[in-house]
Amino acid sequence: MKNLKIFEDATALSHFAAGHFVSVVENSIQERGFSSVALSGGSTPKHMYSLLASDRYIQKINWERVHLFWGDERCVPPDHEQSNFFTAKQIMLEHVPIPQKNVHRIKGELALDQAAAEYEMELRSFFSGTAEPRFDLILLGLGDDAHTASLFPGTDALRVRKAWFVANFVPKLHDWRLTLTPMAINAAAQVTFLVTGTLKAVSLCHVIQSPYQPELYPAQIVQPTKGGLLWLVDREAASLIEEED
Ligand code: 6PG
Repeated sequence: MKNLKIFEDATALSHFAAGHFVSVVENSIQERGFSSVALSGGSTPKHMYSLLASDRYIQKINWERVHLFWGDERCVPPDHEQSNFFTAKQIMLEHVPIPQKNVHRIKGELALDQAAAEYEMELRSFFSGTAEPRFDLILLGLGDDAHTASLFPGTDALRVRKAWFVANFVPKLHDWRLTLTPMAINAAAQVTFLVTGTLKAVSLCHVIQSPYQPELYPAQIVQPTKGGLLWLVDREAASLIEEED
């Protein structure tokens, strides 16, 4: 597959991902004066976040021109250890000169409908005048059940057609999540998955090589309509992928 890059390990992948982030962000700043990125949650991107805040990368980014969003969030306050915002804040945001107004946090502490409605409004305000939110970059992870963002197997958010951002009940978690919808993800200029570890090998293989069944393998629904799709995976996660001739 031309849009699948396999790395020896998570460290090599994280360094490439940091360079990819810089390249996409700086290109969009050159083109339009600013860049919009939706960060992924989970643990996979943590090393990349720390690299972006390190001496090696921090000066390569014009942070004043970067707007950060999240692809999904848990229904918790911003200082909760489960918060995707809290993770990025501790590892990256507190260490880079990004203006606070450029950090578009999902307010997971609000009542579900209010949190979803407010973020939908924030997105529609930022991408005002457009029919869909064209992020310059959306970073995504992959669950061992093939979920991405908070689009979990068999959940309602997979079938949402008009909204850009919704609350989504996840039976397996016995909990609600807040997430970009498939349409909002597929409107992006570039969507890049970061997937590492043997625990993801089965789900990655299904997503990449099984017939299209997004209710079962939600990450399959990510097919940018007018944008790029890139899979950055390490050797462990790719161990079941049959290389094409
Ligand atoms: C979240 C993420 C979720 C994550 C995957 C992979 O809020 O947890 O958005 O989609 O990317 O579950 O998580 P890991 O990187 O921790 O394996």
